[in-house]
Amino acid sequence: MNKVAIITGGGSGLGQATSVRLAKEGVDIVVVDVSEKGGNETVEMVKALGVESIFIKADVSKHEEVKNYVDQTVERFGKIDYFFNNAGISGSGSYFLDSSIEEINQIVGINLLGALYGVRYVAEVMLKNGGGSIVNTASSAGVIGQDSVVTYSATKHGIVGITKSMVAEYGKNGLRVNAIAPGPTETPMVKAFYEANPEMKANATNGIPQKRLGTPDEVAELVTFLLTSKAEYINGETIRIDGGFTNTK
Ligand SMILES: NC(=O)c1ccc[n+]([C@@H]2O[C@H](COP(=O)([O-])OP(=O)(O)OC[C@H]3O[C@@H](n4cnc5c(N)ncnc54)[C@H](O)[C@@H]3O)[C@@H](O)[C@H]2O)c1
Repeated sequence: MNKVAIITGGGSGLGQATSVRLAKEGVDIVVVDVSEKGGNETVEMVKALGVESIFIKADVSKHEEVKNYVDQTVERFGKIDYFFNNAGISGSGSYFLDSSIEEINQIVGINLLGALYGVRYVAEVMLKNGGGSIVNTASSAGVIGQDSVVTYSATKHGIVGITKSMVAEYGKNGLRVNAIAPGPTETPMVKAFYEANPEMKANATNGIPQKRLGTPDEVAELVTFLLTSKAEYINGETIRIDGGFTNTK
């Protein structure tokens, strides 16, 4: 029986690349996204690799929609082995004191509450089945301070906290929870963000020792390693994948 993974934000960027990478390992993929177009595109890509896949439309900031994607997965596949808790938005990149309360609520709602709801419902299913493996998507902004991303940074530091504390509570029950902290990676989200803030792209590349952005495939490789049994004794960790960026700050 194939392993089963839920990937949120699976319709684009890191989620799409990881869906494809896991499918190459023979993992069945449940793609969760607000975007039907992106979600269905990923389903077609992974089905072409010979695994089963369904798309479930959900806004992860709505807890009842999170419960629904978990329930539907269990109904269809009977279990959840892997969870890539990844859906997120960057926000506008404006200075914090120029941010609207609406924007603050939106970023926290999707990036932090969405991730918490996901872990809440997915871990419940995993623990009933003896355990499972979760990777949460943090960010460079989750391990260092950066300007123009105060709310985003707050949510991503929160992701690191969820990761460590879930292990403190449930590591003994067979749950592994890790996080990734990518630096700027060439996904549609980042391209859109840098188009709106071109001076930040030049600054970002200059500040990276390897002088380039990361690629979604590089991140997908790390997530696949962490999710699968290859990383069986890694738990509560946040792994930076940023060309040396945050370690040289
Ligand atoms: N790309 C980077 O440089 C970078 C760096 C660090 C962290 N991240 C994080 O990686 C994750 C993925 O980002 P990406 O770069 O692949 O972006 P992306 O925009 O390419 O993909 C994000 C996906 O999430 C979906 N999504 C957005 N809001 C949603 C919601 N409320 N409910 C369900 N789905 C939703 C979008 O439709 C999209 O398909 C995010 O959490 C982001 O913060 C990205």
